[in-house]
Amino acid sequence: MHRSIPTDLILGGATAAYQIEGAAAEDGRRPSIWDTFARVPGAVIDGHTGDVACDHYHRMPDDVALMQRLGLQTYRFSTSWARVRPDGGEPNPKGLDFYSRLVDELLAADIMPWLTLYHWDLPQALEDLGGWTSRDTASRFVEYALTVHEALGDRVTNWTTMNEPWCSSFLSYTAGAHAPGRQSAEAGLQAGHHLLLAHGMAVTALREAGAERVGITLNFQPASPVDPTSARDVDAARRLDDQYNRFFIEPIVLGAYPESLLADVGHLGLDAVVQPGDLEIISAPIDVLGVNYYHDDIVSFEVPAVPVVNDAPTDRPIASPYPAAEGVHVHPRDVPTTNMGWEVNPAGLTALLQRLHEQYTGSRGIELWVTENGAAYDDEVETDAATGEPRIHDAERVEFLRSHVGAVLDAIDAGVPVHGYFYWSLMDNYEWAWGYHKRFGIVRVDYDTQERTVKDSGLELSRMIRERSL
Ligand code: NOJ
Repeated sequence: MHRSIPTDLILGGATAAYQIEGAAAEDGRRPSIWDTFARVPGAVIDGHTGDVACDHYHRMPDDVALMQRLGLQTYRFSTSWARVRPDGGEPNPKGLDFYSRLVDELLAADIMPWLTLYHWDLPQALEDLGGWTSRDTASRFVEYALTVHEALGDRVTNWTTMNEPWCSSFLSYTAGAHAPGRQSAEAGLQAGHHLLLAHGMAVTALREAGAERVGITLNFQPASPVDPTSARDVDAARRLDDQYNRFFIEPIVLGAYPESLLADVGHLGLDAVVQPGDLEIISAPIDVLGVNYYHDDIVSFEVPAVPVVNDAPTDRPIASPYPAAEGVHVHPRDVPTTNMGWEVNPAGLTALLQRLHEQYTGSRGIELWVTENGAAYDDEVETDAATGEPRIHDAERVEFLRSHVGAVLDAIDAGVPVHGYFYWSLMDNYEWAWGYHKRFGIVRVDYDTQERTVKDSGLELSRMIRERSL
């Protein structure tokens, strides 16, 4: 069926600094928690690091030229705190200059820059002072945000404070699956609250500095009960939803943590860390909610539970990221999965966008943008018989892309104004604890030669933008 894509739905691609830049020790950049964590034995599969990654730091103009050839309307990237204010200290002009050149290249190519300030790469020196368990880190973040704004605010209109704070708190400080690899329920809750606080403080500071549009990107993993008539299944799904989704969206939009969440985990240090006035700071109005969606879950209550484990690629033991997940059991559905083992369910994206619009954003005039959605698959490089050029016929990713853009169109048809969609990722990159083993790109990166090859999915996104049709 032919479907047209509205001209005001902006389409683009996304990346993040540590996952693509490389040049880890150049021009004054100092270690972030990911540089350290990647060197912990067993933390990252095969000990992969972001030292070189896609070498984007050196190849940026070519990469922007590639985006231009694809016709991307927008590009979402993150700035590296460890480059901009190494060790969390004084601003580094060389680091800032890289992002200034990137923004100039994008604007010259008619690609709208979409900037994220924190995509998980906290300076190690700040982790040594407590990292996100320390309230002070929020003030350091505001200094960093203002430094980036001072350098780029004349050309960048879209400012995202945080990317997926669930990952940089619960996956990082509770489960220990991501940097800094701590495993403490209390630390995860403290980190979650301080990330929210840093977000709220930065929203206000950025606005005062003149930022036009400010927002945050949250990852949502909706959970539904296997049996909606079972009170215990409903409660299991509710607990996951509280700890994953509502923990972040509700303080920001409603100015309060959910009561049910506080009842479950408040005593684990959350109550102690929330100071009077924090929720007013956190709920500073935002213009944009960035939505990252990969999959949803069907859960029941069962003992013993199948543990909800995220991102455990090595034998290193990973704790549950959920402090209150007793008996929560995730049920596989009979649907295709990606190379991450994640179920493919585009309808979950439509339902999520509807829920967010109805419960949180619609009445407050907050724009919804899908800031990430994508899939890892093992790609095979073939040689085109006629031209001798490499080709990547990534049919599953093409289907993933098409079905999820279709899911966005379904949401729009149902009355949800969705403003944009960023595919994750523009190019294959460092998939955190999975190293270079998972390829999410619509552009293939050959890590030996750093050669870029547009996959069929990249050609398809390009076609969609050009022809405005699915
Ligand atoms: C979420 C993150 O923001 C991004 O860094 C990651 O690579 C993708 N999802 C895929 O896992």
